[in-house]
Amino acid sequence: MIENTGGEGKLERIHVQVSPDLGEVARQAADLFVELCQAITGAGQVFSVALSGGSTPRALHQLLSSAPYRERVDWSRVRFFFGDERYVPEADTMSNYRMAHETLLEPLGVDPSRIFRMPTTELGSPALAAARYEDDLRAAFELSAGQLPQFDLILLGLGPDGHTASLFPHTEALSVSDRLVAANFVPKLDAYRITLTVPVINNAAVVAFLVAGSDKASALGSVLLGPRDPDEFPAQLVLPTDGDLYWLVDQAAAAGLAQARPDQ
Ligand code: 6PG
Repeated sequence: MIENTGGEGKLERIHVQVSPDLGEVARQAADLFVELCQAITGAGQVFSVALSGGSTPRALHQLLSSAPYRERVDWSRVRFFFGDERYVPEADTMSNYRMAHETLLEPLGVDPSRIFRMPTTELGSPALAAARYEDDLRAAFELSAGQLPQFDLILLGLGPDGHTASLFPHTEALSVSDRLVAANFVPKLDAYRITLTVPVINNAAVVAFLVAGSDKASALGSVLLGPRDPDEFPAQLVLPTDGDLYWLVDQAAAAGLAQARPDQ
């Protein structure tokens, strides 16, 4: 359940937009991306975005790397990070980096110096990979000890089990608060993932979930309207401290909002 768990105005910064289908969700997301990016780069700043994995972002990437969206952004002032990664080589078909490279970064011709890939198996262990990315974030955002990076936009998806990024139900990373990046073993996948931690996600200026498909309806209903149970539905942990939260969903996924009973 989204509660007003901290300070005035929190609920006013939560925006739920229901679109007919994934294509429209992607257009909503592309419009938001361009709006946020133009505001930052127009002021002479660099726009730092953390990309999401899985399959849903493909539709967004297709729009952003094609006209007219492609021409609306000064891509030379955009830095690309990742919210999470599978612990597989970058050439693996399961790699989130590979998907982003194929569908967005290569088509846009993004200079490698502005792509911050999450390292994986080349470092020899998930823990070393997470530690390296933490170092990379500290350097990229010029952080001093104890500081959190502030992404201008973090894109997220939602799994049918209520996970987001690689914050899966009942896994250790859910409670990590003293690191920026965690190596998270996911028993049900019998695999490690590398993920941004909750404090980093919630320090973002804007977080946008892209959710589409009937297989997400139950999880979306539980996350947004069910009892607060973040260990079971980790996406409930996402509530930016000072930023805005967008849920860009299609009608199929939103069906769960009609079915779910608002928590009493
Ligand atoms: C990943 C993602 C993950 C994803 C959801 C939804 O690495 O898989 O970061 O959190 O966003 O699982 O995935 P789909 O978009 O494929 O449904």
